[in-house]
Amino acid sequence: MAETILVVGSTGNIGFSAITAALRSKRNVLAVVRSQSSADKLVKYIGSDKGITIAEADVTSDTGVKGVVEKVRAGKLPAFQHVWTSVGGEYTFDKIENVSTERLRRNMNIGFEAGFFAYRDTIKYLREQNNPNSTWTICTGAQGEIAQFVVPAMTQGALFPFCKAAARENEETNVRVNEVYLCYRVENDKDAVEHGVTKASDFANVYEMILDSPDVRSSRVCVENADEDLKKLKVRPFQKI
Ligand SMILES: NC(=O)c1ccc[n+]([C@@H]2O[C@H](COP(=O)([O-])OP(=O)(O)OC[C@H]3O[C@@H](n4cnc5c(N)ncnc54)[C@H](OP(=O)(O)O)[C@@H]3O)[C@@H](O)[C@H]2O)c1
Repeated sequence: MAETILVVGSTGNIGFSAITAALRSKRNVLAVVRSQSSADKLVKYIGSDKGITIAEADVTSDTGVKGVVEKVRAGKLPAFQHVWTSVGGEYTFDKIENVSTERLRRNMNIGFEAGFFAYRDTIKYLREQNNPNSTWTICTGAQGEIAQFVVPAMTQGALFPFCKAAARENEETNVRVNEVYLCYRVENDKDAVEHGVTKASDFANVYEMILDSPDVRSSRVCVENADEDLKKLKVRPFQKI
């Protein structure tokens, strides 16, 4: 039976990559979306709803992903063996002094907490299924180090220790936890051509390779070079303690 990937942040540039990777590798998708219009955007982008089940939930709330997993447990949504998460907030330049408290909290909620919830509320389910091929993967970015765009930089920076801890907590489990550390711009295929950046469908290679590489676990997968890193994974295992 085909595997299913739960995709959180499914309607973004990076979410489109994850869905493309899933469908290209003959897996199904359980896509969490926040609204019908986001679901429509997804199906329009992919060109079909074949292999995609939509689940509507607010992934920024601490009950959003939890509710989806409860429906899976109740048999109302398909079982899943993998999780991909890439929820993202603003990607704009500003000075720290101009960032209001409300804006900071909103972006930490979208850019950090949503990833945290997507892990906390799926990992027990993945372990209980005990599928030896299970993976849990998150996309972070180089802004977390460079800090040119301070708002996404702060949310991505907060994800780094989270990724290490999640990976460590699963070193001996059935779930391969990995971080994809993306160092350049990826956009949906149409925008990418317009803006001269990497296409979501090309970046999808990375996730396809992770899904099919049983040895890649508890690692940061660096995507620094828009050519070679899309053909061969650059794997940097997290330090063991
Ligand atoms: N794109 C890149 O080149 C790149 C590079 C490095 C790292 N990353 C990281 O990857 C992540 C995603 O990037 P992206 O380019 O895919 O972002 P994006 O295109 O803006 O997509 C963001 C996703 O998050 C969802 N989202 C945003 N605000 C939400 C909210 N308030 N409630 C519920 N869902 C919300 C969006 O849903 P809707 O469609 O409904 O708005 C969409 O699915 C980010 O954390 C980013 O830092 C991206």
